[in-house]
Amino acid sequence: MINDLDAGPAAEAVNSIRDAGGRAEHLAGDITHPDSPQQLVDGTIAAFGSLDIIVNNAGYMWNNVIQKTTDEQFQAMLDINIVAPFRILRAASTFIRETAKREMAEGRTVMRKVVNITSIAGTDGNAGQAGYSSGKAAVVGLTRTMAKEWGRYNVNVNCVGFGLIETRLTQPLGEDAKIDVKGRQIAVGVSPGVLESVKTASPLGRTGTVQEAANAVLFFCSPLSDYVTGEVLICSGGLHF
Ligand SMILES: NC(=O)c1ccc[n+]([C@@H]2O[C@H](COP(=O)([O-])OP(=O)(O)OC[C@H]3O[C@@H](n4cnc5c(N)ncnc54)[C@H](O)[C@@H]3O)[C@@H](O)[C@H]2O)c1
Repeated sequence: MINDLDAGPAAEAVNSIRDAGGRAEHLAGDITHPDSPQQLVDGTIAAFGSLDIIVNNAGYMWNNVIQKTTDEQFQAMLDINIVAPFRILRAASTFIRETAKREMAEGRTVMRKVVNITSIAGTDGNAGQAGYSSGKAAVVGLTRTMAKEWGRYNVNVNCVGFGLIETRLTQPLGEDAKIDVKGRQIAVGVSPGVLESVKTASPLGRTGTVQEAANAVLFFCSPLSDYVTGEVLICSGGLHF
């Protein structure tokens, strides 16, 4: 089940999964709306009969130095980066607990997976990102807490923290990409100077590809990580801020 603010890319992703022989559906919509997380969880269980892996990935940056960061801007960064993941996991908790108890009563151990996406801006801090860094740092606290609450239900809860991955979020600023935040258009992208300096500072000397980012998430979605929980895997080519 794929959620995105934009129905077009969500439908595109669904089609590519189906073309590869998989089953997929999408529920487009704003995940920061208070009702959306429960609808997403209920819609997923209705469509697939189960809920096995949750990847909390939706996010964007609305940057500024602290003296220019408005309350609305700071709150928007918390709403998308930490409040939405919290509500999704809370919405999933009834299914997770009841299903795990039933499976254990039947003598079965089924591992489920939560992968929350954070950033080196959250783990290291980053000038100009008071709101984004705070939201992404909170993701680590939520992850470690849920690992402790849900270990008894056989759920691995981990974080992947990205450095600079080549996506829409990090395209060179000025290419006119925007994200619609409650009717307000927020520019998406990173200044070309920052992109260059990140490449120089990174031990691997380059930004990461989408495939490389997905590989780290796949590790935590797979049985390879069955004995790993409450951890943060930094996928940044060695870059730290
Ligand atoms: N690209 C990087 O270098 C980088 C670095 C660190 C962390 N991250 C994190 O990785 C995650 C994925 O980002 P990406 O780089 O693929 O960027 P992206 O812009 O390509 O993808 C993020 C997606 O989140 C969706 N989204 C935003 N707000 C939403 C909302 N309210 N409801 C539903 N969907 C919403 C967007 O429509 C977009 O498709 C984000 O959490 C981001 O903060 C990315």
